[in-house]
Amino acid sequence: MNSSKLLQQTVELANRYYAHRDSSPVFPHVTPEQLRQAFGVLTPMPEHGQDAQQVIAELAGAAELGLVAQTGPRYFGFVIGGSLPVTTVADWLTSVWDQNSGLYATSPAASVVEEAAAAWLLELLGLPAKASVGFVTGCGMANFTGLAAARHHVLRQAGWDVELDGLNGAPPVNLIVGDEVHVTVLTALRMLGLGTRSVKRVPADGQGRMIAAELAQTLRGCAGPTIVCAQAGNVNTGSFDPLAPIADAVREKGAWLHVDGAFGLWAAVSPELKHLVAGAERADSWATDGHKWLNVPYDCGLIMCAHPEAHRAAMTVTAAYLVQSDKERDPFEWTPEFSRRARGFTVYAALKHLGRSGVRDMVENCCARARQMADFLRRHPAVEILNDVVLNQVLVRFHKSDAATRAVIERVQQDGTCWLGGTTWHNMAAMRVSVSNWSTTEKDIELSAAAILRAIDSAASAPSLALEVEQDQRR
Ligand SMILES: Cc1ncc(COP(=O)(O)O)c(C=O)c1O
Repeated sequence: MNSSKLLQQTVELANRYYAHRDSSPVFPHVTPEQLRQAFGVLTPMPEHGQDAQQVIAELAGAAELGLVAQTGPRYFGFVIGGSLPVTTVADWLTSVWDQNSGLYATSPAASVVEEAAAAWLLELLGLPAKASVGFVTGCGMANFTGLAAARHHVLRQAGWDVELDGLNGAPPVNLIVGDEVHVTVLTALRMLGLGTRSVKRVPADGQGRMIAAELAQTLRGCAGPTIVCAQAGNVNTGSFDPLAPIADAVREKGAWLHVDGAFGLWAAVSPELKHLVAGAERADSWATDGHKWLNVPYDCGLIMCAHPEAHRAAMTVTAAYLVQSDKERDPFEWTPEFSRRARGFTVYAALKHLGRSGVRDMVENCCARARQMADFLRRHPAVEILNDVVLNQVLVRFHKSDAATRAVIERVQQDGTCWLGGTTWHNMAAMRVSVSNWSTTEKDIELSAAAILRAIDSAASAPSLALEVEQDQRR
């Protein structure tokens, strides 16, 4: 097999993809059946192999039918970052090098690049330089890892060794979250054996921010080991829990504060936004993503912990055949995974390429584009912007009607100029716009906003919808 020809072919395919990506519909017009046909679903497993170049050509041909332009400038769905060209290429090299980055002994380069990227990351996010850092698959796993460290620490303080003795007979742990907690925090609690039934939910305000006075009240009713999960960046509104008073209340109680900052933690890089995360530096653990706002390719999450000994104790294991280092970083000690991809390379490439000013510009540009979108849309009488646009998220409702809002979302998705999804906010259907891509320009927002306005007009003229909208408005 000629790997050089294969790599050359891959470069050509990648260039072809980029060349067509932004002029094609953001979401492909394809049926599942067409994709099954293209990938040969239900065709028998081939007895004999095929030429590698042909496999790659056919794979790309089939995949391209069903790819979503998530790396493109007009993808506003969920909170999905793009991929800076430098990180895409660093990711290719990560595959070419194919390092198992678990141990220093398996890859000195993968270990030390994490060390470099971790130190920059902590500095950039304004977190304690001595915090430990783990490179995981996403913020969901980062939440899991941070909460595993929390579980270790609070139970240790109560004289219980959870890694050794498990949870049977352990002192109960108070678990406190905001009412707008991200679902992955709850998944983490499930996976940690803490369950979700006993979780105390602290009420949130109209923007989804935990009410600090309510938290203080809840904490007053708690005795023993306690973990509080706060949020920096609500997935719908982009709002932030008030971290400074939350940190005060948690500190007073001697509890553990975990901050889920999948994208919001990056506000720390901007002088105009950093007030939103004031107090975050006093937390005990922080979870965030590389694949959202840092625009590194999937997958990449980051967990940082102010108590390296708890972090390490919750994650590390040992075995006779493992060559663990006394002096150097063994990356697997900070993550749930044992064998793992060398995620440090892409994070390092992003931080080195952008520098502090580049990360700041990228974050501020996304927020400015979100405000531009909100300003453009709110001129239309049918539009209501439901959130204060404090970050990169915009929540939009049309004609004060669930039916109209859903119809507009569907029409925008069909139009293909951009892609955005729906949600339910305070029992109302809403459209979510999340600007998380390094390459989104003012022009992209103009084109996308124009597509949304067209969809409003087309929905308004659909006779089948008129009655439903009228009923919604009367409710
Ligand atoms: C606040 C918050 N936490 C956690 C997550 C989960 O992140 P991931 O999908 O990277 O695991 C998300 C995803 O959007 C999020 O917004």
